[in-house]
Amino acid sequence: MKMESSAIDRYAIVTGGNKGIGYGICKKLASKGIMVILTARNEKRGLEAVQSLKEFGVSDFVVFHQLDVTDPSSVASLADFIKTQFGRLDILVNNAGVPPGKVNGAALFRKVSGEEVDWDKIVECNYEMSKACVETNYFGAVRVSEALLPLLHLSMAPTIVNVTSSIGLLKYIKNEWAKAVFSNMSNLTTEKLEEVVMEFMKDYKEGSLEAKGWPTIMPANVISKTALNVYTKMLAHKYPHFRVNSVHPGFVKTDLTQNYGYLTVEEASEYPVNLALLPHNGPSGFLFDKDEQIPLE
Ligand SMILES: NC(=O)c1ccc[n+]([C@@H]2O[C@H](COP(=O)([O-])OP(=O)(O)OC[C@H]3O[C@@H](n4cnc5c(N)ncnc54)[C@H](OP(=O)(O)O)[C@@H]3O)[C@@H](O)[C@H]2O)c1
Repeated sequence: MKMESSAIDRYAIVTGGNKGIGYGICKKLASKGIMVILTARNEKRGLEAVQSLKEFGVSDFVVFHQLDVTDPSSVASLADFIKTQFGRLDILVNNAGVPPGKVNGAALFRKVSGEEVDWDKIVECNYEMSKACVETNYFGAVRVSEALLPLLHLSMAPTIVNVTSSIGLLKYIKNEWAKAVFSNMSNLTTEKLEEVVMEFMKDYKEGSLEAKGWPTIMPANVISKTALNVYTKMLAHKYPHFRVNSVHPGFVKTDLTQNYGYLTVEEASEYPVNLALLPHNGPSGFLFDKDEQIPLE
């Protein structure tokens, strides 16, 4: 059934929408009559994704715009586009993400299924990939959010969903200073969060992660997603009329996991979409593992 585009009442943007969970989110939001700006860092891959949505009858509800979350000029150009074309934004889904190293999906699957497998056989982390992970998963999401906040403020029901990981928890961080900054919500700022993440990267470079109490298993993933979850809480605290939540989508068959996982993209994308469509009196400032609220501690 083809929907009437005149029925559009909300505008959403999804980062990393060309494949994986982001693509699934775009498809589901568009099928509900929401105008989706599917973004991708690579224009060809993004346009192909939009084209492929035609067969699901939702392409009238999808437009493409290039977005590399690590590139400030690309983020500024997206903000300009939304302002000019739509005048406001209702839903932002920060989904774009990269792993902190080379992932062995089969080994990860065995580990998650309860087998004894060493973490260094699952993800081969290195400094360069960890830097890209932090740049994308944390700084990218913050850069996009901060640039789009003025447009979200023009919405009647501004909503942000941050796609995170259930390893982004305070219990995996032993560094007392970082824990204290992350836990002190009343004094928290993006500058303080940035300071923690930069200190972590400095200690990574100097080879002092363990000595300084930082995580040693997938460290950049833990830090980037914990910082993202804390940022979620901070935004919710700062803007009570927003719905802002983080969600771990489950163990999902995507390129990131070499297509190993328990859930399909179709199944996993349901969780971020449910949070994107929360009623205005719905929860805000929380971390969800699929559809279950879990503590950040
Ligand atoms: N799969 C899982 O089991 C799992 C579990 C927990 C959390 N997550 C989270 O779910 C999110 C989506 O992951 P996925 O599994 O769907 O992975 P995926 O299939 O590898 O998709 C990742 C998406 O992010 C995009 N991306 C990467 N760097 C970007 C950048 N600088 N700017 C804009 N887009 C960028 C990718 O674009 P390209 O195609 O150009 O690379 C791709 O569209 C991530 O935040 C991930 O951490 C996934």
